[in-house]
Amino acid sequence: MRKQNNGKVNICMVGAGYVGLVSGACLAELGHRVVCVDNDPRKITLLKKGVMPIYEDDLERVVKKNVQAGRLHFANSVKEGMHYKGHRAEAVFIAVGTPPREDGSADLSAIERVSEDVARNMTDYTVIVEKSTVPVATCHWIEKTVKRNNKKHLPFDVASNPEFLREGTAVWDFLKPDRVVIGVASKQAEELMRRVYKPIKGAPIVITSVKSAELIKHASNSFLSTKISFINAVANVCEKTGANVEDVARGMGLDKRIGASFLKAGIGFGGFCFPKDLEAFYWLSAQVGYDFELLKNVKDINEGQKLWLVKKIEEELWNLEGKTVALLGLAFKPETDDMRFAPSIDIINELKKRGAKVRGYDPVSQENARKMLKGVYFARDAYDCAKDADCVCLVTEWTEFSGLDMKKLMAAAKHPIMVDGRNLYDPAKMRELGWTYKSVGRP
Ligand SMILES: NC(=O)c1ccc[n+]([C@@H]2O[C@H](COP(=O)([O-])OP(=O)(O)OC[C@H]3O[C@@H](n4cnc5c(N)ncnc54)[C@H](O)[C@@H]3O)[C@@H](O)[C@H]2O)c1
Repeated sequence: MRKQNNGKVNICMVGAGYVGLVSGACLAELGHRVVCVDNDPRKITLLKKGVMPIYEDDLERVVKKNVQAGRLHFANSVKEGMHYKGHRAEAVFIAVGTPPREDGSADLSAIERVSEDVARNMTDYTVIVEKSTVPVATCHWIEKTVKRNNKKHLPFDVASNPEFLREGTAVWDFLKPDRVVIGVASKQAEELMRRVYKPIKGAPIVITSVKSAELIKHASNSFLSTKISFINAVANVCEKTGANVEDVARGMGLDKRIGASFLKAGIGFGGFCFPKDLEAFYWLSAQVGYDFELLKNVKDINEGQKLWLVKKIEEELWNLEGKTVALLGLAFKPETDDMRFAPSIDIINELKKRGAKVRGYDPVSQENARKMLKGVYFARDAYDCAKDADCVCLVTEWTEFSGLDMKKLMAAAKHPIMVDGRNLYDPAKMRELGWTYKSVGRP
């Protein structure tokens, strides 16, 4: 058997985005030798200069530490990444984007391109690992593509290792996972993947077939989305009956079979994962002949929930034409600069359709938001955002917004009307201060 380099693995991570960069840096932190590859030259140039292309807590520290230790490197091509300074990659992780197509299916063209590239640059047995979220049976397409482009007929395996990290706590999530899921088709691939994750202590390693691992990711994200839509539907019933969704959620969540997490009512889920994975799982199920209608309901509830905020503003302001609405928070959740599929985008579009003027402020995602949203005034801070607003809305529950001086905010706004889409503030306190205050599913 080949010498095993003290259990350390040479890894090439293709795609240096939210998942690839965090996974690559954390795998280096576990002691492996990692080369992160991206075809966006801007990202690689920034990384080589020690500048993080994304906002993610603790990432810069882990990246810098491992670059200094000589375990983490960056390259512009798969070819360079797979043979960086003469070291051959034993495992190539694919962490490129799998965005949604118009019909809801996942666009796997970047995965295909990388698979071709990997096949052309293999010089020995290689494990090709799906890190991106892909529909079940994508492994067969990768296998076919690699076979077709691997002219020397070198041996390889396709494995699945779905990623469950959350933006905002990604480094922690990667290093302290609830579980590690590994789908493999051979003992050789299993042995290598076990070596990769050996340094992670205290998390069960779930070994499955490649297809089951692929399915675990879509099923997990769809289940979490279902939990969010369920509690939002309950919040709607609470609003109509005078019950309080927070009390209901607490009472439900203490049941171990249900669990307390993901039972927070709000304006729905967004981001790069939940909406597209739900769509892709629904689409895939239909393709194989199963109508997974539950997932369609989950999506419909979420679409409706995003507009809850607009409905509440209208209930207070009547006509929106010419009125000014201030949105506190634009990112799809706190502690990230990610604006992809953020509920704020749909909310802003709806407000503008109704003729409202929109002011927005986000502590971190403002620059990304500016690129995506036209006709919005981007404010310096929350108080500037609230200036002369007919209504102030809380969209993303950044910690910074918990500590706002509500009197100062009220003085800036034209009317003391607050629509809280994340149930961040205490209704009694807000009313005591003189705010007309609306929140989700709370009397
Ligand atoms: N963002 C999350 O929280 C999260 C969590 C779990 C899983 N995922 C999944 O991980 C995958 C990646 O998501 P992300 O958020 O990191 O996306 P991202 O857009 O941040 O990163 C993808 C990167 O791949 C690069 N890329 C694309 N094609 C390439 C190619 N041919 N060669 C080299 N690089 C290429 C892009 O330039 C980009 O930097 C998706 O399938 C996503 O569903 C994301």
